Order: sequence, then structure tokens, then C-alpha cells
Amino acid sequence: MSDPIESIIAKMTLEEKAALCTGASPWTTTPIEHLGVPEITVSDGPHGVRRVADVKDFVAGSLPATCFPTASCVAATWDVDLAYSMGEALAEECKALNVSIVLGPGTNMKRTPLGGRNFEYYSEDPFLAGEMAASFINGIQSKGVGASLKHYATNNQETQRMNINAVMDERTLREIYLPAFEVAVKKAKPWTVMCAYNKLNGIYGSENHKLLVDILKNEWGFEGFVVSDWGAVHDRVKALKAGLDLEMPGPRERRVKAVIEAVRAGDLDESILNESVRRILQIILKAVKTEKGGSFNKEEHHALAREIAAEGMVLLKNNGILPLKELERVAVIGRAAKEAYFQGGGSSHINPIKVDEPFLELQKVAPRGTRFSYCEGYAVDDGFHQDLLDEAVQEASDADVALLYLALPASKESEGYDRPDLDLTRQQVALIKAVSAVQANTIVVLNNGTPIVVGEWLDNVAAVLEAWMMGQAGGGAIADILYGKVNPCGKLAETFPLRLQDTPAYINFPGGAGEVCYGEGIFIGYRYYDAKEAPVQFPFGFGLSYTTFQYSSPRVSSSQFKDVDGVTVSVDVTNTGKMAGKEIVQVYVHDRKAKLVRPPKELKGFAKVALNPGETKTVSIALDFRSFAYFHPGYNQWITEDGEFDLFIGATSADIRCVETVTLQSTLQLPCILNKESTLHEWMEDPVGKKVLEPLFAPMVEQMQMTFGGGDEDKQKNGMETMNFMMELPLCDIFYFQETALPMPPEDLVENLLAQVWQQHGKG
Ligand code: BGC
Repeated sequence: MSDPIESIIAKMTLEEKAALCTGASPWTTTPIEHLGVPEITVSDGPHGVRRVADVKDFVAGSLPATCFPTASCVAATWDVDLAYSMGEALAEECKALNVSIVLGPGTNMKRTPLGGRNFEYYSEDPFLAGEMAASFINGIQSKGVGASLKHYATNNQETQRMNINAVMDERTLREIYLPAFEVAVKKAKPWTVMCAYNKLNGIYGSENHKLLVDILKNEWGFEGFVVSDWGAVHDRVKALKAGLDLEMPGPRERRVKAVIEAVRAGDLDESILNESVRRILQIILKAVKTEKGGSFNKEEHHALAREIAAEGMVLLKNNGILPLKELERVAVIGRAAKEAYFQGGGSSHINPIKVDEPFLELQKVAPRGTRFSYCEGYAVDDGFHQDLLDEAVQEASDADVALLYLALPASKESEGYDRPDLDLTRQQVALIKAVSAVQANTIVVLNNGTPIVVGEWLDNVAAVLEAWMMGQAGGGAIADILYGKVNPCGKLAETFPLRLQDTPAYINFPGGAGEVCYGEGIFIGYRYYDAKEAPVQFPFGFGLSYTTFQYSSPRVSSSQFKDVDGVTVSVDVTNTGKMAGKEIVQVYVHDRKAKLVRPPKELKGFAKVALNPGETKTVSIALDFRSFAYFHPGYNQWITEDGEFDLFIGATSADIRCVETVTLQSTLQLPCILNKESTLHEWMEDPVGKKVLEPLFAPMVEQMQMTFGGGDEDKQKNGMETMNFMMELPLCDIFYFQETALPMPPEDLVENLLAQVWQQHGKG
């Protein structure tokens, strides 16, 4: 029997093929009815379903759906099962709203905390982001709905968002900006991947053959289709050739025509068009198998949104005031207590089914008899208002505790523009200072998508809870944590710096004149602060609990192993406090010695474990080849090197509880990368190069010993300096010094040596 997709393609006209590769409307694909190819609907994403009421209308309002916490909060749960459940819930809503593909998750790296869309992204760490994204996609797709992994790749700023050229070296791309996509593609097989607006090293995301075909489709084996970000296509034919299968939004008559004409003129091989058609058809025909319509359980989804919010909130400071005990009077201060700040602006903006008011939820959870007061604290206009401060101070001084609910204004973070700074508003900072001056029990609850600087007031307050953009049910989650109904367990998926000036990309962000240079390279987030030994406010992986955990008996499955076998590291974790809680155990790998510079440590595994008081559980984390490898641009591949690695088992990236040292044996047979420009240093590092060179060098070394030896200290020093100098010279330049003594011209000699080396490397 013939392949149904091939038989559809065989019957399609050129016009129909071209039309299928562009949307019919802002949110639907082009149907080909007489061949039984229906349209399917796609919707944003990522933390809820933004199903517009009218798919023909780009800016139509959207139908009500559950607004889950945004990715910053989800990532801080470090809970892949919760991410999976969120995906399942989203898919249920998609089915009810007749949506086949949800446009998310976004798994770009948080290069700088100033990134305007950081609230939609998971982490500054590619491993964590990749694991969360993969699990979320698996959850969505387990229900027969597709995901769209976005924005591939290097979409890390909103300044000049449609065109900015992100300039970076290959290693940075491979080690930092691609792995989260790679993990998600390999582990979850997303139905679609959305290309980014921006350029990478001069080439638009929509026209980047290396990204879309060489890496995504060929290297990682992506089988779905690549969709453009909305409006990211500039040259439709070029984009098709580069592997961009579906252009959105539609309709775009001129684009369709351009494709038809290019095929007719012989500028575009029809087989390229067929390949995109094949990929799109495969997904459409899979999508329509999923029955649409029906309803979903709104209350269950609301409860799940509350659970995720509570697990993702991070307790940043607690002098013991939390959880709140029986209190007579609680002064609730801050607009965010009444008007929940629970999501960000832009394409991900969900029309929530309902929104819990934090102030009301607090009263529901508090012990009976607690008296509450409320005042606004800061105005909606973000201006400075002394009267609001005075009122807050009055309320706070009359109470047992002051709860400050502070949300960043939308002007300070949204899709479409980057953050101007990392600060709360002037009024909010003044409010914290004024209230904490009269009330020692001041607790700050923050709603924001990404880090803020807190140093100006942190010491003045008793506790701080990072509540993120917490989704529609976040108000209840805050109350659950404040009153100890939930033991906080979230840990930061991004570093909170002391100051903006300390952040890795500070002098390179946001670039200008159309270009941004990723000068910090592989050193973003904790990789940078670790390498600089620079202090931070709250490190990556940090978060407090109402209980305490002890780590003991660290062990490894084998202290010596081959890279391909990997190794498992285990540790016992005991809840040593009085309350049930969850601990997130993190494993970082440190390479003691490498040919290229590496970050002091990198997250390569984590596990979340629930423990009752006194209970102990063993956590085991498997590390594989990639846990130890780095991308070597010379070999253009991931490599491992023989040697010792430290496995840091930590409660945070800065609180390492145990270290196990292991010895890795690399199984790689690396090709020789010596060339005419290789330095003496590089020749000596290559075992074959060293062997080939030694006979030739022996007389030179002998001569040097005669010149610089003989016990004279000055001469010896000169000798060392000359040797160091020579080590960094290409061979040819060294040979020039000896030209008359050589059997042939220096250039020929280098060629000759290289030929010997390649032959011995088996590359003759
Ligand atoms: C955003 C995407 C989004 C798309 C559709 C674009 O502007 O960058 O994330 O999925 O619009 O709304």
C-alpha cells in the first residue's frame, strides 16, 4: 500500500503545495479540501491557551483559559512531573478550544536579567531549561496536541527584536544557546519548532540553513515542521531552501506566488518544497486524529495552577517569622494584594478563567479571628505619593505584622521591550523602607518575572517571598506559603545579582546598530559569577524551606569509568526539621583540567525529593557522556578528555554539601587538528605531533641547553623566557631561526611533518 502522505503529494498541484507552506489566516493552516487536508488551528502559549475568538483576526480577544504561572516560576519548581501535568492540562484546554498546536514552550537562555521576555523563559542554565521544556512538551503531546518549541535560536533580547544580529562563537552557541533545544527535541520530539526573529552571526533565524537543516533536522533528527515566528520570514524562497517549512501568519498571497515562480524558473528545486509539504502534512494528519471539543475541568486546572505556583515560589529570606503564627492584626499593604499580578504582556497574555485575589485568599487561609487591614501603598501610575506612604506606615505600626505585596509595573517588563533596570519603583522602595522602619515584622512578597535588586532594603525586612508571575491561582499559593499550609521548596532557576553592573552581559547588552556581541561567551549566569568569584545576592539554585535537610553518604557507582558508560552519583537526604518538605538536590560537574577554559561548575543533574520529618531517602542521579563533554570548535564536536572530575552535590550552586572525585577515560579517537598555523605548544600537546617533532627538536634543545645552561641563573632565566616565547609560535616561525641548518625550506618541513602526523593518526 502506498504511503498516504506521498499519494497526497503526488496529487497536489504546485499552487497547492506553495499555499500549504503559508498560513491561511493568522492562526490556521491552509486546507486542501478535495484531497482531504483540513486546516488546523494554532494558538499561543506558553503558560495557557490564547485561543483568539476569531482566527481570521490577528488582534481579536481570546477565549477564557487557565492562566498557569509563567516559565520563570515553573522552572523554579525544578519539578519535571509538574511541568508534564501542566502540559497535559494545556492540551485538554487546547482540545476543548479546537486548537491543534500550542505555541510554546520558550526555552531560550536568560543571558541577562534585562531580557524583556525572560518571564516566558525558564533559566540561565541550558540543562535545567531543556529538562523542563522536554517534560512540558511530553505532557502536551501525550494528549494528541502538538507543541511548538520556540524561539530557535538565540532570541535573548527585545531591543531590535526583529532584526538584531546575535554575534557569538561556535562553542558558545553549542554549549549555552542550543542544548535546551537539543534536549527538548531529542527527548520530546515536538511537533513543531518555531524559528526566531533575530539573526545569528548575520543570518536570520528563518533563513539559517545551518540551524534549521544541518543541526535541527539532520544532527538532532527533528521530524516535525519548522514554523516561522509571526512575521519572521523576509524572503520566502530563501527561507524554504533553509528549511523553514511553514510561514505564519497568513494569508500572504505574494509569498505563495514567489514560491510558485521560483519553482517554475528553476530557482527552487521542487523536491525542497515537497520536503516541507511532507513535514507539514504529517503533522496536520496526526493533529486531526485528536478529537476536539468537549470541556475541561476548570477547577482541577485552577488547583493545578495553584500547586505549580506554590512549588515555584522561592523563599528568599526568613528570620523565623514565617510561617505566620496566630496573630491578631495583619496589615496588608500594596496594590498587588488586591490586583494580582500574575502574567506578562505580549503574545502570551491569557484571558484567565478567574483570578484569585491575594488579599481574599489570605483571609481564607488565616486562622479564625485574625484581623486584616488593607492599604494601597503605591499607585497604579507608578508615581511618587507621600500620602500613600504615610497611610501604610500608620497601618503597619498598628499591626503585628506587615505584609507588603509588590508587583513590578508592566512598564518594567513585557514582551516587546527590554527592562530598563532591575529595580522596583521608587515608591515601592520607599514603601519598604518606611514600613520596615516602624514594623520589625515586615514581609515582602514580590511579583515579577525575573530578578530584581533588593540590596537597598533586604536587611530591613524579616522575610521575602519571590512569587513571580504566578498565574491566576497564585494569590492562594502565596497564602498557603505564608501560613505554612505549603512548605516552600522552589529554588531559583536564575541568579539574583547584587547590582545590574555585575551581570555577565552588562557591557555587551543590548548592542547597537543592529548587532549585539555575546562577548561573555559561555560564561552566563552562575558560570560567570563562579569564574569571577564574584558575590551575588541569591545564587542559582537557592531557596529556603521551613525545614532543614542533611546530606550524607555521597557515593558513585564507579570511581573510574568510560565516558560512554557514564556514572551514577547518589546521596542520602534526611529531613532534619519538624515539617514535611521537599528538597531539590543539584549535581554540578567540575572538570579539573581541560585544554580549553571551562566554567568552574555546570549543572548536569537534579532531583526533587519529598521527605517527612526524620525521613531519609536516597537520591541517585545518572551522568552521561554529555555531562562531562564540552564542545571543541577545532574538532567541531563534543569531546571528552581523560582526567579527574569533581561531582559537586549541592543544595544550591553555592552550597555544595558533598564532593565525589571520579576519573574519566575518554573513548574518543579524535582526528588530528594540527595545521600549518599550529603552535609548538599545540604540537607538544598532540601525542603523535610530539613524537614526530622530537627527533628534529632534540638538537635544537641541546643547543639551547648549551647556550642557556651552565648554572648561570640569569642565563637560565633567559632560557626559560625564550622557551615560553617559542611555545606560542607556529612551527614555521621557529624554523626560520634555524633555516640554514634545516634539510629543506621551513614551509616544506612543516608540510612534511604534518603529513607524517596525519599518516600516524590514520588519516594519511
Ligand atoms: C511571538 C511568538 C508568538 C507569536 C504569535 C510573536 O510575536 O514572538 O512567541 O508565538 O507572536 O503570537
